[in-house]
Amino acid sequence: MAFSRTGGPEVLHLIDLPTPTPGPGEILLRVAYAGVNYGEIQHRLGDFGEPDGETVTGLEAAGVVAAVGEGVAGDPSVGDRVAAYLPDGGGYAEYAVVPAAFAFPLPDALDLRTGGGAALVLTTAYGVLAGAARLAPGDTVLIHAAAGGVGGVAAQLARTLGARAVYGTVSTPEKAEYARAAFGYDEVFVRDAFPQAVRAATAGRGVDVVLDPVGGPTRQASLDALAPFGRVAVYGEAARHPDLHLPVLPLWKNNRTLTGYNIGDLARRAPETLRAHALNALRLAAEGAVRLDITEEYDLPDAAAAHHLLGEGRNKGKTVLRVGGA
Ligand SMILES: NC(=O)c1ccc[n+]([C@@H]2O[C@H](COP(=O)([O-])OP(=O)(O)OC[C@H]3O[C@@H](n4cnc5c(N)ncnc54)[C@H](OP(=O)(O)O)[C@@H]3O)[C@@H](O)[C@H]2O)c1
Repeated sequence: MAFSRTGGPEVLHLIDLPTPTPGPGEILLRVAYAGVNYGEIQHRLGDFGEPDGETVTGLEAAGVVAAVGEGVAGDPSVGDRVAAYLPDGGGYAEYAVVPAAFAFPLPDALDLRTGGGAALVLTTAYGVLAGAARLAPGDTVLIHAAAGGVGGVAAQLARTLGARAVYGTVSTPEKAEYARAAFGYDEVFVRDAFPQAVRAATAGRGVDVVLDPVGGPTRQASLDALAPFGRVAVYGEAARHPDLHLPVLPLWKNNRTLTGYNIGDLARRAPETLRAHALNALRLAAEGAVRLDITEEYDLPDAAAAHHLLGEGRNKGKTVLRVGGA
C-alpha cells in the first residue's frame, strides 16, 4: 500500500513490488499485522518531505522472520515471531525489511495482532516517560491525546513506573469516558479547559510531568499546568500548528524543564537505548501490566479508511491493518 504524491487518504493505492532482500544487519519480515499511527498520516500529508517515487509507509508491524541478512546470526532467526519498529517505514506490505536491532522477540503471551500495534507505541511511551520526562515514583502525570495509541499505553506504563496520579486530556466527553474505563486514568478532561481542571485536581500545585504530542495552544498551556521541578515532554505535532515561541521565564523561575523525544533520532544515535526501552515495555505488556486496546482492524487494501479515522481524530485505542494475519 503506497503513495507517490502527498495528499488525503485517497493517494494510498495497492502496488506490486518485488519481495525485498535483507542487507547486512537486516531481516526480512513476513508481515501479519501492521499498526496504524498518526506519524503515517503526517508522512502521507508530506510533513516529513515529499515522497521519492512509490513510498510505503508503516512504522510498526509484527510477523515472522522470513530471511536474515549477513551478520544476523540467530538474533533473530528465520521462523521467529517478532514485533518490529521500521524507522524508514515499509510496514504496510506483505514483506518488509527491518534492521535486526529493531526486530524485537514477541513474547509468547502476546499474539501477532497485538504485536502489530506494539513496537512503535510501547517503545515511544516508555522512552518518553522513563527517558525524556525522567518519571520518578510518586510523580503526577498529565497525558494529552489520552485515548489514542501512545496515550493509552503511556497511562498504564506511567502507573507501572510509579506515578501517583495519571490525568489525561481528549477532544470529546465520549473519548474521556472511554479513556477512563479502558486505561485507568484518575481523571480525563476535555482539552479546552484542562489548565483549570488540572489545578483543581492537584490542589493548585500542577503536575510533575506532561506528555504533549499535540502542540499549539495545548503546549503553551501545558507550561501553566506544571508544578515546580516539573517536565513537559514534547513528542509530536498532532494539531499541525505552526511552531511556538514559548516564554522561558516560567521554566527557570521554578526549575521546570521542556524536553523532547523522537524515536527516529534515537534509532540513528542510540539504537541500544531504543532496543532496551522496547524490550522493557514488551515485557511489561507480556506480564499484563500494560494492555493495548485494539479497537479497529482493517484489511491492508482498506488502509485509506484507517487513515480517515486517525486523520480526523476519531480513533480510540489502537488501530491495526491485517496483512497476512496470524
Ligand atoms: N516523537 C516520536 O518519536 C513519536 C512516536 C510515536 C508517536 N508520536 C506522536 O504521538 C502522537 C500520538 O500518536 P498515535 O499514533 O498514538 O496517534 P493517536 O493518539 O492514536 O491519534 C492521534 C490523536 O491526536 C489527537 N489530535 C489532537 N489534535 C488533532 C488534530 N488536529 N487532528 C487529528 N488528531 C488530533 C486526537 O485525539 P484527541 O481526541 O485527544 O484530540 C487523535 O486521536 C502523535 O502526535 C504522533 O505523531 C511521536
